Amino acid sequence: MLTSKKFFVANWKENKTYEEGLSFFREFLKLLTDAPFTDQGVVFCPPYPFLVPFKKELSLYKGNIPVRLGSQDVSQFEQGSYTGEVSARLLKDLVDFSIVGHSERRKYFSETDEEINARIRNCQLVGITPIICVSKESEVATLNINTSERYLLAFEPLNSIGSSHPESLKVVSDFRRCVDYKLTNGAGFLYGGSVDEYNVKSFLGVASVDGVLIGTGSLKLENLYKIVVAL
Ligand code: PGA
Repeated sequence: MLTSKKFFVANWKENKTYEEGLSFFREFLKLLTDAPFTDQGVVFCPPYPFLVPFKKELSLYKGNIPVRLGSQDVSQFEQGSYTGEVSARLLKDLVDFSIVGHSERRKYFSETDEEINARIRNCQLVGITPIICVSKESEVATLNINTSERYLLAFEPLNSIGSSHPESLKVVSDFRRCVDYKLTNGAGFLYGGSVDEYNVKSFLGVASVDGVLIGTGSLKLENLYKIVVAL
């Protein structure tokens, strides 16, 4: 559980070798250990093979900024003969969060609304907080969430992802207002799409934005560190 006021979710996607990832994470934790206390938390979502070693590194971490792990996906199935899949039941001992329904999964792996809802359900059944990615209102309408459990909704406009063209603050806050009916107490609202160390402050300055999802900006140590301590 992460109770910080603002969240930074670092999504590495399919990047980094084992050595690169591990030394990045160690360095990052070292930098955070010396950073002044801020009321924000980091959720690290590396590729699956990093989750076990990162958890070990985190057990030695003494910094004040909370750091948690998240997976970039989770199986739609609870368990069984589904080669290549990783269940929520397995992940629950490693992560507190799972990204669900990222637009790249919807696009390249044809994930349907029904499959995304199954993933949300599997996460919530075992106490993993799903970070549910949506790019338009119609995707929000089809979500089937247990609103008595924790969840985060991440607005990620397609044109802003990996493009250096972040969405305007007005569109982000208008979207937040439109989806308010899906956000019950304790649910958070995130923005993702070309967030960097220069624009992060403005997104987090919007009162109703609880955090940001960072893809490209999380791949370089100095960039990610600047983003996290920007406030
Ligand atoms: P980006 O990716 O920061 O590279 O735009 C964000 C995301 O896909 O979550």
